[in-house]
Amino acid sequence: MFRVLTNTTTVTGGACRSFIGQVRNTTAAAATKINVPDTKQPDMKHLKRESQSRIKTISIYRWIIYINPEEPNKKPYLQDYKIDLNDCGPMVLDVLIKIKNELDPTLAFRRSCREGICGSCSMNIDGRNTLACICKIDDSSKPLKIHPLPHMILLIFICNYKMIEPYLKRKTPTAVGNKQLFQSVEDRKKMDGMYECILCACCSTSCPSYWWNSDKYLGPAVLMQAYKWIVDSRDEYTKERLNPLPE
Ligand code: FES
Repeated sequence: MFRVLTNTTTVTGGACRSFIGQVRNTTAAAATKINVPDTKQPDMKHLKRESQSRIKTISIYRWIIYINPEEPNKKPYLQDYKIDLNDCGPMVLDVLIKIKNELDPTLAFRRSCREGICGSCSMNIDGRNTLACICKIDDSSKPLKIHPLPHMILLIFICNYKMIEPYLKRKTPTAVGNKQLFQSVEDRKKMDGMYECILCACCSTSCPSYWWNSDKYLGPAVLMQAYKWIVDSRDEYTKERLNPLPE
């Protein structure tokens, strides 16, 4: 003897066979229903989307630093790529990744986090230094122009940053890992607006003084970082930090 339990009914013994029959019939009917040819209209949204493709020209400055091994005498130039914005993410970094993956693997650029926190993808987009991963592609018919950061000599930027000793310096011996270095809310507030800097170098490379004198002038990004360590109440080398900075 066995029982088939449903939500509302308990079926026993001989009645069970006819119940199973009913279940089978219902299942077969459902299957027949599923096989009915689909008479739905074609997906008009898809057709509409295709007819409204949004082609954008992306002009990218090529071979600024590296010599093109295939054409060593050729000067840097703007190379155009046509991209349908419907097939691409909304940010400039998305279009660069699409070009590199699908059209031109020789294209090279830096990027990492893809969300505006690492500073790797800084470049000049339509005349403005910014981060490609958080810069929305302009929907207009104008070509989008992408250049490297102007007058950016990466090694000088890094050397300048190294010069300010960008780390906490203490005179009082502290057992590392044993105790936190506390800071009052007021002291912490002094660093607001500075600890957010991600060293993308967009500001320094927008500064003409830095363009022409980056070997002498530290530039806004590095000076701001230096100031951050000067006002940090946990650091005990304030005087020494002020000495080597240019006046
Ligand atoms: S990829 Fe990190 S800031 Fe753009």
